[in-house]
Amino acid sequence: LPPVPPASALLHWYDRHRRALPWREPIRDPYRIWLSEVMLQQTTVAAVAPRWRRFLDRFPSVQALAAAPWEDVAAEWAGLGYYARARNLHACARAVAARNGFPDTVSELRALPGIGAYTAAAVAAIAFDRPVVPLDGNVERVTSRIHAVEEALPGARPRLAALAQRWMEQPEAAGRPADFVQALFDLGATVCTPRNPACVLCPWQAGCAGRRAGIAGTLPRKLPK
Ligand code: ADE
Repeated sequence: LPPVPPASALLHWYDRHRRALPWREPIRDPYRIWLSEVMLQQTTVAAVAPRWRRFLDRFPSVQALAAAPWEDVAAEWAGLGYYARARNLHACARAVAARNGFPDTVSELRALPGIGAYTAAAVAAIAFDRPVVPLDGNVERVTSRIHAVEEALPGARPRLAALAQRWMEQPEAAGRPADFVQALFDLGATVCTPRNPACVLCPWQAGCAGRRAGIAGTLPRKLPK
């Protein structure tokens, strides 16, 4: 098994450079985190921030969202794309309200309508500090580079997920799962970027096999669609 990059170095970097995003407020509300993760799956961080706030002003709790007529939810979603996603959001809110709140495990979250593997892991880690790594585009990129995985996406996904999950098994990561996961998002968004990664600024540069091989900026490989 390849060596794991040190969680302590990433967390130290995150403590100094974390992005101040609205859903990272000290009050950890699974509803607010779930909403941010659903919105972020199709829209950029900059575009989500104001819409997330407005959505919460209109529907301040999962109960409020569940009780709202579909037309109101659709109207508030306007411009965020894919109405199927808003339909799922509404169905999920009704299921959560019916069981009096969000469950706090990956498997129970995964069983809710419209919640896939990514969202279940993101909410479990960020809202409930469960030691799971959600595999989004940022995490795929960081993982493929750290471990110099040249197998192309989407086939490489299970391998990347297993490698990133091993990082979380370090006590420093498992002690701060929400921070560790968001540190990976921030590293991917600001340092380990798709083009011209800023490797000199990276807290994991010493352990990066992709950088050592001179191929970091070319990863992850992708099969043509
Ligand atoms: N992308 C997806 N989820 C995110 C989060 N919680 N913070 C920053 N970027 C993200």
